Amino acid sequence: MQFEYSSGKPQNIIADALVMFTPQLSSITDRKLKELDQATDGALGFLTKSEDFAGKQNQIAAFYKPAGYKADRVMLVGLGEKKNLNYDSIRKATGTLSHKDSVSRLNSIAFYFDTFNDEKYFQAAAEGFLLGGFKMLEYKSKPEDKDQSRIKKIIFVVSEKKHLQKMKKAAEMGRIISEGQNLARRLSFTPANDLTPTDLAAKAQELAKANKLKCTILDRDAIKKERMGGILAVAQGSAEQPKFIILEYKGAAAKRPPIVLVGKGVTFDAGGISIKPAADMHEMKGDMTGAAVMLAVIICAAQLKLPLNLVTLIPSAENMPSSTAYKPGDVIKLRKGLTVEIINTDAEGRLLLADALDYANNYNPEAVIDIATLTGGALYILGYAGAPIVANNKKLADSIRRAANISAERVWEMPLWDDFRQAMKSPIADLWNSGGRAAPTLTASAFLESFIGDYNWAHIDIAYMDLEKSGQPYIPKGPTGFGVRLLVELLADWRKL
Ligand code: BES
Ligand code: MN
Ligand code: ZN
Repeated sequence: MQFEYSSGKPQNIIADALVMFTPQLSSITDRKLKELDQATDGALGFLTKSEDFAGKQNQIAAFYKPAGYKADRVMLVGLGEKKNLNYDSIRKATGTLSHKDSVSRLNSIAFYFDTFNDEKYFQAAAEGFLLGGFKMLEYKSKPEDKDQSRIKKIIFVVSEKKHLQKMKKAAEMGRIISEGQNLARRLSFTPANDLTPTDLAAKAQELAKANKLKCTILDRDAIKKERMGGILAVAQGSAEQPKFIILEYKGAAAKRPPIVLVGKGVTFDAGGISIKPAADMHEMKGDMTGAAVMLAVIICAAQLKLPLNLVTLIPSAENMPSSTAYKPGDVIKLRKGLTVEIINTDAEGRLLLADALDYANNYNPEAVIDIATLTGGALYILGYAGAPIVANNKKLADSIRRAANISAERVWEMPLWDDFRQAMKSPIADLWNSGGRAAPTLTASAFLESFIGDYNWAHIDIAYMDLEKSGQPYIPKGPTGFGVRLLVELLADWRKL
């Protein structure tokens, strides 16, 4: 998708469609709308009076060949009530446009902005359109199913020339983030027979090369040398070898401690010997969404040239039942030296993450953030509306909340109470890997906390947030890549802890 930038009057824009945004309205007071009303012989006024178009969120009105406009169509898109206007109003508006048939048939579309002084609105416009247009067509073999959107060009237009550079920078940021999020979605969508830990490592290597990142892959022998007993135990039931993927981006002075990003990379979670029910088990191909997100985030950071040092760590394995699989009752030793009694082989994510969180100490990090489809119980905390987080540093939690407000990837902080730590104590080993039915998301968090070093840490549980069931304006049905916008926004406005 090509982005172009220009400034000036809406009438002068050459495009198949010119899009203007409006908050909910009862009468036409805005100048650009008055001009459009005149150009259409009062058609817009008629629509608003008859309430056919009132500027409600995602409402669309189209005017064809209005007099004096160089664009073939002028489309008005509603942003809802003015008092509720935020970046997500725009994201939803362009997202709605992105998958309308009448829009996909066009070659070019222009977004016109006059009143938006805050450049994040331009970013949001780009995000909504690119994210909403996401499709996974790689596995369709019939040409009619492959029918792609024809849109080649988006023209961002701002009324005043002095905003042009600002707009360009913001829209480019939106493009980078959306392409990153769509990459994460694509990886999560990819079936486990095409995305084993080995495939994920190869993909990471390929992407690292294209983006000039350092990439190191630890294979099973190297993982063994590191004594990462959690990763080894989870992987031992599968014919697929585990991988530990390390990506490094240097955007600041070499001595500056990095921020380490850890993503759960379980390429398929059958549950192991504690096998999952058959219903929906196919969705567990997405149990590497945390890994996909952290891979996308470090690529976005590199493309945005953020002035930070970053490391992405991805412990990757397949969790399968077999005669070589780890078993309930087994006691294993993790990299940190702590012993863990396996209660449930389906609580595998924390074992992989624990080894990665301990490995993160190698970098003397400023902060470590992990993201994982960790516990089904997350659904009972915030539903599909947001992701629960825990953190050991208030400033870090606040920063994540701030990024959540901008990105509309919502999170809410949960407490790390001693009760949850107590629930993870095993009678035979230092810990066990399941705290039972009560507060599973938080007992899992307490488990992870036992493996962190002396660093600032936040944990984001994206179970169920990783998958959209019905389809939203800019979130098509399927993997969401939840966390990419959130974390890039966090890193782009990183504040010392
Ligand atoms: N990958 C699952 C969590 C999950 C479930 C993600 C549903 C997305 C949708 C994780 O490995 C798991 O199985 N967790 C168990 C832990 C339990 C056995 C302590 C869970 O949540 O049931
Ligand atoms: Mn599991
Ligand atoms: Zn899992």
